Amino acid sequence: MTDKVRTYDENTVLIFDTTLRDGEQSPGATLSSAEKLEIARQLSMLGVDIIEAGFPAASPDDLAAVQRISREVGTPDGPVICGLSRAVEKDILVCWEGVKDAAKPRIHTFLGTSDYHLNYITKTTRAEAIEIIRKAVTLAKSLCDDVEFSPMDAGRSDPAFLVEVCAVAVQCGATTLNIPDTVGYVTPEEWRERIANLIAETPGAGPGSGVIWSVHCHNDLGLATANTLAGVLGGARQVEVTINGIGERAGNTSLEEVVMALHTRPQFYGLNTNINSREIVKTSRMVSNYTGMYVQANKAIVGANAFAHEAGIHQDGMLKHASTFEIMTPETIGLSQSKLVLGKHSGRHALKVRLSELGYNVEGDALNQLFARFKELADAKKNVTDADLEALMADEFNKPEEIFSMDDIQVTCGTMGMPTATVKMHRAGSGEAFIHAAVGTGPVDASYKAIDAITNAPNVLVEYAVHSVTEGIDALGEVTVRIQHPETGRSFGGYGADSDIVVASVKAYLAAVNRMLALLGLDGVQAEGEAATVNMKSEAK
Ligand code: KIV
Ligand code: ZN
Repeated sequence: MTDKVRTYDENTVLIFDTTLRDGEQSPGATLSSAEKLEIARQLSMLGVDIIEAGFPAASPDDLAAVQRISREVGTPDGPVICGLSRAVEKDILVCWEGVKDAAKPRIHTFLGTSDYHLNYITKTTRAEAIEIIRKAVTLAKSLCDDVEFSPMDAGRSDPAFLVEVCAVAVQCGATTLNIPDTVGYVTPEEWRERIANLIAETPGAGPGSGVIWSVHCHNDLGLATANTLAGVLGGARQVEVTINGIGERAGNTSLEEVVMALHTRPQFYGLNTNINSREIVKTSRMVSNYTGMYVQANKAIVGANAFAHEAGIHQDGMLKHASTFEIMTPETIGLSQSKLVLGKHSGRHALKVRLSELGYNVEGDALNQLFARFKELADAKKNVTDADLEALMADEFNKPEEIFSMDDIQVTCGTMGMPTATVKMHRAGSGEAFIHAAVGTGPVDASYKAIDAITNAPNVLVEYAVHSVTEGIDALGEVTVRIQHPETGRSFGGYGADSDIVVASVKAYLAAVNRMLALLGLDGVQAEGEAATVNMKSEAK
């Protein structure tokens, strides 16, 4: 069968990634436009069929990000670029502005159809809701050939009303019908049946009609992946997912879980995807680093322990044959098994070659910069592994726009005296330099206080996580933090890696502060007379 999306057959499940829209709605996952573009590029490498790039009517920044992704990632060979819009004329027009430059644009419009939504949010009758949907889908179709409609909170909507709603959406030109379990309420058995019945009962949308049925599940009861796969068994051929399962509340269905379930159990599902599974780990790390949302160690597929075997009996089995305790190989998801990669005698060329084997093409100044970091690490640590290289890449290149940059940090801590940090930083644009010393409950707290005094960026630290990239006392430490801006309530993440854990902590915090200043349009300027910091402008010259 051929449709506007791409050539597909009934055995292919289309992967609709909504990391940049529903995923970005998770508290603290705010991304800059440049970060969204990078993630979109990586999603395209991963082979997703559709990228939901954002909600263009939400803000001018969202619109600009969707437009950029449409132009730069939405190439003829690339994914469909989709924008979300409420079933409101203004939103649909702005959404079209966002996606129209993509080679394959899509407008996704939605309206709540459960009685909860009709009575308390839209305050409309069912008949009025049908008319709103008719108008919205008709308008979207007049602008864009590829239109998706979602009856929000379908999981709690009356099944007979859903049939009516879906029939109207198809009549007005919707080519994809997405059925969301918005609040993560349904169970796999009922969801499979619900989807199968909808497909069978909706006029004009059955098998052979060209309409694609889709499912979109939330994880409030931890059932998102199970429900999504049940939806597929019921006949859905598009799944809406996010990387690492990020999203509103307990999150969305995780892309890697659904894709690897289909991949690992071909005899059971008999279905394919267009995903290049070897890009999964890289995409997962990029999303985690940019959003500052740490992936739990026991997370399926991409957690740090997903391929670790601790119990003696398991280790013994693994040594005899990997299939005793492993249902998929780490290589399938792009996890390198190579333990020893490079050491302090390795040269620039060896580094470049290894990076390119890991999927990174680093050249020129960027290679020089990375090589200097690699040498520092190789001096401190005998074996530099692939995991170390990935962390260095993330630390060097996954940075938000730098408003303040760190030059030096010195800390004193221990059981005697007060933990103190002296931080020297400069403003990236003007070069204006600052130095500040602060006392805290520990070296990290003292450093953060010193940074706060310099950057004048009011925030509350809501999450701080540290872990080592590899085993051993000389391992690189990775830190992710999330901070919250007290006035707007918005939160921002940051990531840093270094063999010195205080330095990694400072890098992560500064990344989050820079992200907050950039995205909220703050400049970190202190009011006259408020600066407790020594401004080093003249000394810095
Ligand atoms: O969860 C939901 O219902 C959504 C819709 C907008 C598809 O995200
Ligand atoms: Zn959702």
